[in-house]
Amino acid sequence: MTTSAKPVSVAVIGAGMAGRSHAAGYRNVNTVFGAGLPPVRLAAIADANVVLGEDAARRYGFEKALPSWEAVVEDPTIDAVSIVVGNDLHRPIAEALVAAGKHVLCEKPLAGSLEDARAMAELERGADVVTAVGYSFRRSPGIAAIREHVRAGELGDLTLFSGRYWCDYATDPNGPLAWRFKGGPGSGALGDVGSHVIDIAEYVAGPIAAVSGASLSTQIPKRPLPLGAVVGHNAAPVSDEFGEVENEDTASFTARFESGLVGTFSVTRTGFGLPNGLAFDVLGLGGRAAFDQHRPAEYLFDDAQPEVRTRGARQVIAGPQLPYFAGGVPMEAPGVGASNADHFTYQARAFLDQVASVADPQPVCATFANALRTMEIIQAVVQSSLGGGAAVTVPPAA
Ligand SMILES: NC(=O)c1ccc[n+]([C@@H]2O[C@H](COP(=O)([O-])OP(=O)(O)OC[C@H]3O[C@@H](n4cnc5c(N)ncnc54)[C@H](O)[C@@H]3O)[C@@H](O)[C@H]2O)c1
Repeated sequence: MTTSAKPVSVAVIGAGMAGRSHAAGYRNVNTVFGAGLPPVRLAAIADANVVLGEDAARRYGFEKALPSWEAVVEDPTIDAVSIVVGNDLHRPIAEALVAAGKHVLCEKPLAGSLEDARAMAELERGADVVTAVGYSFRRSPGIAAIREHVRAGELGDLTLFSGRYWCDYATDPNGPLAWRFKGGPGSGALGDVGSHVIDIAEYVAGPIAAVSGASLSTQIPKRPLPLGAVVGHNAAPVSDEFGEVENEDTASFTARFESGLVGTFSVTRTGFGLPNGLAFDVLGLGGRAAFDQHRPAEYLFDDAQPEVRTRGARQVIAGPQLPYFAGGVPMEAPGVGASNADHFTYQARAFLDQVASVADPQPVCATFANALRTMEIIQAVVQSSLGGGAAVTVPPAA
């Protein structure tokens, strides 16, 4: 572990949609929460698309762009690295970085296959570096606050968790056949956005024990091949030739948590008009709470208030009373927002707090083992769907 005040040198592998979010996070990491972290050197952004990498390095203030992830592995001055490329590449890059003694913050889902994810969890067990996963929604002030309500017993015994992640990024049938549409069942909407809502469900309400009633569907089975680079969910020039979509656009399932709590889940990437619809309700005998990422600066909270006349859900507006907010935004006033970009800054800060072993760190990042669990749950959902909705147990949480 780095313990001195020597700068921590960071690099980002991948300059696409989420890579830039990591880059912005590292750039801001010493502006939030005041002192505590050593200086951060923005060493490099690596992308096989050199033009994109150079543009990101310039815009986010990194010293240089590198043309390959291998160049990051080979640079002895780099201490900590975000892996922000397509999921199939996570394992080989993580293995090489860990072997080179570098700390790793890998994007979700952990890997392109369960086999790779298991190998990465094994790698973590023998690693002498930080191995973290980018479950960025854990850093939402509203979601973290709801978790605190649940853990403090303020909702009473939980009765239902209902979560969804409804997106519209794949509604256009002329959208290019990018890496997101490749891989088997479970690697589509379930892996891409379902992994977030499954992680949040366990983060808020505890471990899932079994899933059942799963159903997967694909609304757009063929997509045009891209003619060049595709960034994130963006449109891109496409050819007249079409290729198969290999994974699901939509999925739903129910879950039973280890506590006995029942959960319902649905995810889609083909839901019109929903750019980033992660939302959930958690209900209990004595209260309830609800969050919707389309209204990220608030959540709903309801409990048995003494005055019956004015009972009802309260809109809790994010402010310094919520996790991350105090010291985490430049204008520390309620109602000024809590954006997706902030999540990445808090996540980068938490990761580097771990790397530098600082006193009084931010809450630790999800581990490779945590993210393997998410993939095991997704695998159980796929098995349930193949078995006509049969119940499938999930390996117990460690
Ligand atoms: N936490 C979140 O909210 C969030 C959001 C979006 C994406 N993600 C995750 O981030 C990862 C990347 O997703 P994205 O949407 O940014 O993808 P993207 O397609 O926009 O970007 C990926 C980049 O990787 C580059 N690349 C491909 N092969 C490479 C190689 N061999 N060496 C170096 N660079 C290479 C591509 O040129 C591209 O620029 C995925 O794992 C995804 O699931 C997380």
